[in-house]
Amino acid sequence: MAKKAIPPQRGFFPQPAYLMGCFQEDGRPNFTLVTWTTFCSAEPPMLMFTSGNASLKNTPMRILETGVFSANLVTVPMVEQADFCGMTSGHKVDKCSAAGLSWVRGAVLDVPILEDSPWAFECMVVKTVKIGNGTVFFGEIKSIFADERIPDPSYGKVDLLVLDPVIYAPTRYYSVGGQIYTVGESLKKYPFKAQTL
Ligand SMILES: Cc1cc2nc3c(=O)[nH]c(=O)nc-3n(C[C@H](O)[C@H](O)[C@H](O)COP(=O)(O)O)c2cc1C
Repeated sequence: MAKKAIPPQRGFFPQPAYLMGCFQEDGRPNFTLVTWTTFCSAEPPMLMFTSGNASLKNTPMRILETGVFSANLVTVPMVEQADFCGMTSGHKVDKCSAAGLSWVRGAVLDVPILEDSPWAFECMVVKTVKIGNGTVFFGEIKSIFADERIPDPSYGKVDLLVLDPVIYAPTRYYSVGGQIYTVGESLKKYPFKAQTL
């Protein structure tokens, strides 16, 4: 494959889409669209996300103040509301009222959970790191709200196609095409024992 070097930029990376939620000072919930996010520890389970120019945004600043947040998976039917939450700020807009977002309170933390999201993490901030113009939030997962219709929510059993998540890559939203392979299948072709660290 012929390649060419291009200048460094943050242009392309397939990303998941989550709506991070927290409560405003007056008790109203606010959600913001975040796509720079992934797991960072298995034991205890933790996730991380990055906020660029966090001091300008309502959600990261409130998360710093409250020390808790929810991370709600964005699915295909939610894409319009999610985009709206990424294009407006809780500083100026009551996003839940404007976009008709329904929410419930978390089971173990004081965070808002989106009713329409089939998979939502309740997280407690354990660390933040400033790097470049970003602030990385490390959140310990204290509870997960999983849609009752997911047959088996345990590790490795969830079928992504059932959740129907949105995938983002600048500047478009995509749906998942389909499963193409299974973890460990390569060892049937290449005769090595699995050597995981
Ligand atoms: C597709 C998309 C992805 C985004 N990803 C992030 C992200 O990963 N981190 C972040 O801090 N902001 C991200 N944003 C920007 C925030 O969602 C946006 O600044 C929002 O208005 C902040 O709202 P708030 O002030 O209510 O927190 C994204 C926006 C869009 C449209």
